[in-house]
Amino acid sequence: MAQTQLKHSTSPDLLSSLADSRAITDKLFDVPLHEALYDRPIPERHRIVFYIGHLEAFDWNLLGTYAFEAKSFHPEFDKLFAFGIDPVDGGLPFDQPSDWPRLEEVHQYNQRVREELDSRLKSESLAGAGGALSQTAVYLNVAIEHRLMHAETLAYMLHQLPLDRKSKPAQANVPAPPAETGKMIGIPAGTATLGLPRSGNVFGWDNEFELHTVEVPAFAIDEYKVTNGEFLRFLREGGYENKSLWADADWEWIKSQGVQHPQFWMPREGGWDYRTMFAEIPLPLDWPVYVSQAEAAAYARWAGKQLPSEAQFHRAAYGTAEGRETAYPWGGAAPDKSRGNFDFYTWDPTPVQAHPAGRSQFGVADLLGNGWEWTSTVFQPFAGFEAFPFYKGYSANFFDGKHYVMKGGSSRTAACMLRRSFRNWFQSHYQYAYSGFRCVSN
Ligand SMILES: [Fe+2]
Repeated sequence: MAQTQLKHSTSPDLLSSLADSRAITDKLFDVPLHEALYDRPIPERHRIVFYIGHLEAFDWNLLGTYAFEAKSFHPEFDKLFAFGIDPVDGGLPFDQPSDWPRLEEVHQYNQRVREELDSRLKSESLAGAGGALSQTAVYLNVAIEHRLMHAETLAYMLHQLPLDRKSKPAQANVPAPPAETGKMIGIPAGTATLGLPRSGNVFGWDNEFELHTVEVPAFAIDEYKVTNGEFLRFLREGGYENKSLWADADWEWIKSQGVQHPQFWMPREGGWDYRTMFAEIPLPLDWPVYVSQAEAAAYARWAGKQLPSEAQFHRAAYGTAEGRETAYPWGGAAPDKSRGNFDFYTWDPTPVQAHPAGRSQFGVADLLGNGWEWTSTVFQPFAGFEAFPFYKGYSANFFDGKHYVMKGGSSRTAACMLRRSFRNWFQSHYQYAYSGFRCVSN
């Protein structure tokens, strides 16, 4: 099996990866204007200030308290900034800005956490026995990837912040001319390898274990992700008004919430605009559409197709005609800018055909980056699953039948999480994620 070995999996790169990840999130908090730091851009989420304290509180609670058994210097903040929330229907938070501490206090707390942790980490041996990860290295990987995951979900949140509440960086995307519609690519029957071996030296979250294989019958898959242009046809042909295309719960959701178009689209006289991170532009027809799983499933039904299963995604992305499997769709080379739109290179999508060097061995394009891809697979544990004892709820809290596996990655997904075994998930009515889809014919 090809190893998806990544830079920060082993010591001593871990400490520099920690520093890199801190720089990424620090920069992200420069996006909202100072006066917007107590805003709540997504009603189901916390105010921005929570996340400023959350990343450090998480690191402290895991590494300081749990791994190093250090005495807390601020138990109140450890607790206040510990708990995130998953967006589920109903029950919106109602706290006020005045319920939160002042920014100076939060920054002081953050700085102290970094000092306390860094002084301990410096004298810690991160190498484990026999090339395996030491327990501290596992904790540190968890802290780094937790932070990087927030770097992505915070981008979803800041995307929804009004444009006049953000400071805009110099670069901005300009839409390109529409793409031709892609074809479907036949994938022969074969094996897909999912998961990670527990004995390996690659860090994975609890839900990535164990390694196992799945036999996948032949199917055909879209060459590209479904674009805004293609989704526009679905909308114009009454997709949001045709009950027969929607599962009952999804129909009830779009009607009760007044969902009539993708969250990132904005109706304007005679057409549609698109809201990028920092601008409003004419709808870019050849960018992947970002929608909820419910909208993706309705489109697939309208097109006479289905959403791929997790195993089908693996087969299309990592399989080969000879039966060998690759670490990345393009082969074994580490991810770089030429292969796809990921790892914070851009804020927004690119045209679906922009990265031919990222194609899989079967020729399927844009599988890593440029938007996660919804699957039809309900998020469930693999056989042999064991929750991390120090983070029991990371995955297990979401094995409720309401969350679906997403594969791939977005423009704001760190390269380390492009490993083959990584699984993302959201509930099917969440519209704010950088997540699109492609269809299969079985
Ligand atoms: Fe978190």
